[in-house]
Amino acid sequence: MATPHNEAKEGMIAKTVLMPGDPLRAKFLAETYLEDVVQFNGVRNMLGYTGYYKGKPVSIMGSGMGMPSIGIYCHELYQFYGVENIIRIGSCGGLKEDVHLRDIIIVQGACTDSNFAAQYQLNGTYSAISSYSLLEKAVNFSKAKELNYHVGNVIASDYFYMAEGGSNLKWAKMGCLGVEMESYALFATAAYLNKKALTLLTVSDSLVTSEETSAQEREKTFTAMMEVALEIACDEA
Ligand code: HPA
Repeated sequence: MATPHNEAKEGMIAKTVLMPGDPLRAKFLAETYLEDVVQFNGVRNMLGYTGYYKGKPVSIMGSGMGMPSIGIYCHELYQFYGVENIIRIGSCGGLKEDVHLRDIIIVQGACTDSNFAAQYQLNGTYSAISSYSLLEKAVNFSKAKELNYHVGNVIASDYFYMAEGGSNLKWAKMGCLGVEMESYALFATAAYLNKKALTLLTVSDSLVTSEETSAQEREKTFTAMMEVALEIACDEA
């Protein structure tokens, strides 16, 4: 049972899929954290793997960048492969003074400048939110690990580079903690298909402070975030 973008056979993908943007990160994470790893996808190099974490099956697959890309992959995972939970693990730009580099954002809701929800033909604005049960687990595991985390809204933007005069900073005034490019499509797709989704982000850069982080430091926070995601996947298995 292949789809246009996924060559996995039935039963090859776990109930919970962790999705970093970068497929090579999916490969690295699967090889680093999982046992008995099997690659299930290589179409367009959007690598996907299933293995075991603490004895429980977990899958890790790249999403690509942006809402059209994650929209395709998460739709196929939910609709055709029986996936119940998708946890995006990514990075974002910080929009608030108190959101520091390497902090973790547990994403409660996503605003957007994209037209993704037009497909649902609603006569208003759809508010995309994460699954409360996954979010609650993320908070509990983050607390237990004593991580610096925030819970709140983000802006999922179609624009990484903006024309002169454009800015995502106005979203900060509305409480958005960070800017990324995928969560709105993930949450909307999950809602439409009656599935669960969550996003965990590490703050990789800031639009308001001039803090900088080294690749090594980014790796450390990413590891902590990844462990939270794996604990949730394990708990859901
Ligand atoms: N914009 C959009 N996506 C991002 C950013 C950003 O500044 N940083 C990390 N992901």
